[in-house]
Amino acid sequence: MTKEDSKLERIKYAPYRERIVSAEEAALLIHDQAVVGASGFTKAGDSKSVLPAFALRAAQENVAITLITGASLGQTTDADLATNNALIRRMPFQADSVLRKTINSGQVKYIDQHLSETIEQLQEKHIPQVDIAIIEATYINEEGFIIPTTSIGNSAYFASVARKIIIEVNTAIPLEIEGVHDNSVPKKQPRREIIPIHTVEDRIGETFIRLNPDDVIAVVYSSIEDTPAQLPEPDVKTSAISGHLLRFFEEEVRKGKLTHSLLPLQAGIGKVANAVLTGFIDGPFHDLTMYSEVLQDSTFDLIDSGKMTFASGSSITVTEECYGRIINNFGQYKDKLVLRPQNISNAPEVIRRLGIIAINTAIEFDIYGNVNSTHIGGSKMMNGIGGSGDFARNAYLSIFVTQAASKENNISHVLPMVSHVDHTEHDVDILVTDQGLADLRGLSPRERAEVIIENCVHPDYKAELRDYYERAKERQGHTPHLLEEAFKFHIRFQEKGSMKP
Ligand code: COA
Repeated sequence: MTKEDSKLERIKYAPYRERIVSAEEAALLIHDQAVVGASGFTKAGDSKSVLPAFALRAAQENVAITLITGASLGQTTDADLATNNALIRRMPFQADSVLRKTINSGQVKYIDQHLSETIEQLQEKHIPQVDIAIIEATYINEEGFIIPTTSIGNSAYFASVARKIIIEVNTAIPLEIEGVHDNSVPKKQPRREIIPIHTVEDRIGETFIRLNPDDVIAVVYSSIEDTPAQLPEPDVKTSAISGHLLRFFEEEVRKGKLTHSLLPLQAGIGKVANAVLTGFIDGPFHDLTMYSEVLQDSTFDLIDSGKMTFASGSSITVTEECYGRIINNFGQYKDKLVLRPQNISNAPEVIRRLGIIAINTAIEFDIYGNVNSTHIGGSKMMNGIGGSGDFARNAYLSIFVTQAASKENNISHVLPMVSHVDHTEHDVDILVTDQGLADLRGLSPRERAEVIIENCVHPDYKAELRDYYERAKERQGHTPHLLEEAFKFHIRFQEKGSMKP
């Protein structure tokens, strides 16, 4: 078979073969002010040719869109769109440093959303309706339906509502990936049915994305791999955090609260969460499972080591080394994985039912256990809340991790009061820094402050936080504060570049 024939083989629905165009031609089909719903979740399964082509078009022409995705995109797509003024609104998540600047300057209107909720907001018409869907496909089946690639995100919903659909067939994705997906579209409230997921393995949908073939206006080929995740090696601090958490789990097992299989794990993106999961490889735990949104390298390391039996997520976002290992040997992993739409991977109902252990990263937390995951200095957006809120509020155990201090200890990540709240004290059970772990379950605010200051704070800041708390107590209150001093750490950092006294 020639290369051209094998490409055509990926479009099994013959009428689409008439609609094959270049990425540039497809980008011309996106009208100014359109609302685009695109595949892509933490760099995986995103549009790798049409959205970048639209960004190039916007450099020449005055065109801009509202872009809704699953989560962040790969390559430099978000950056190129932002640089060329091609974005009016962006939701529900991003993690790009260039886009971040345009959000913080007010140029791009960013709606930072719980990842499980985008579909709800679209269904209820609280946010603009999707005009055009752009979905990456491994191949198109005989009925014109899409076999997705390395993520699902919101793709099944976008394809079900958009009146114009552009499909990007990515020939770099092995056909073996078929079967890992479990697509479904929820009914509108109040007719919504129970989500019948009782174990992490349960499947409730179809392996393909259903759509109306008449809505497909273009099919484009690409052969670009997902942008690899960058994961620094575990360091002294991430290893310390991992150590505290693993000892805590061992203690919970000793007390009979958990077994050595724990409960299904969710882990946020980034080096700390990855280091914690990697720590399970050498620990006494076994038959572990995941019910998470992003499956990182550590998931596959745990499966390879025989410690993890099954993982459910919405995307596979891994480093280059891991990508080569798993995507090209997918058959080995397929019966141990399922990829779901993000309204299912992050569904509060399922998270509460399964009893998830959720491990997410904080930018900062305060002495009472309120967590900021999104804003620097109370004003500047970092990435977004992502799925951390979906999991934190509904988990069996809601754990937040961060280093006690960073940037040569000029930043303390434990503060009198957080400058922005994403997860209130009610949604936070356990806090861990490299200094130690605070178990907040069943504690009043004053008891929480004692254990957080004692266990989690960097030595450079401990005396000052203790002094703040002692003086605040003199003023009484359920949650004592000195409002005129509550942001003194942040103010010092703004003025002097250091939170140190
Ligand atoms: N003041 C100033 N800068 C701060 C800061 C503070 N209080 N806290 C963190 N920063 C800076 C760090 O110095 C670092 O800057 P650098 O890149 O210039 O070094 C940057 O913010 C990120 O911090 P880092 O410690 O490297 O964090 P990370 O990569 O582990 O990410 C979050 C942490 C919180 C930003 C990230 O986990 C996130 O976006 N979470 C929200 C989404 C989420 O939880 N999703 C979970 C489901 S996938």
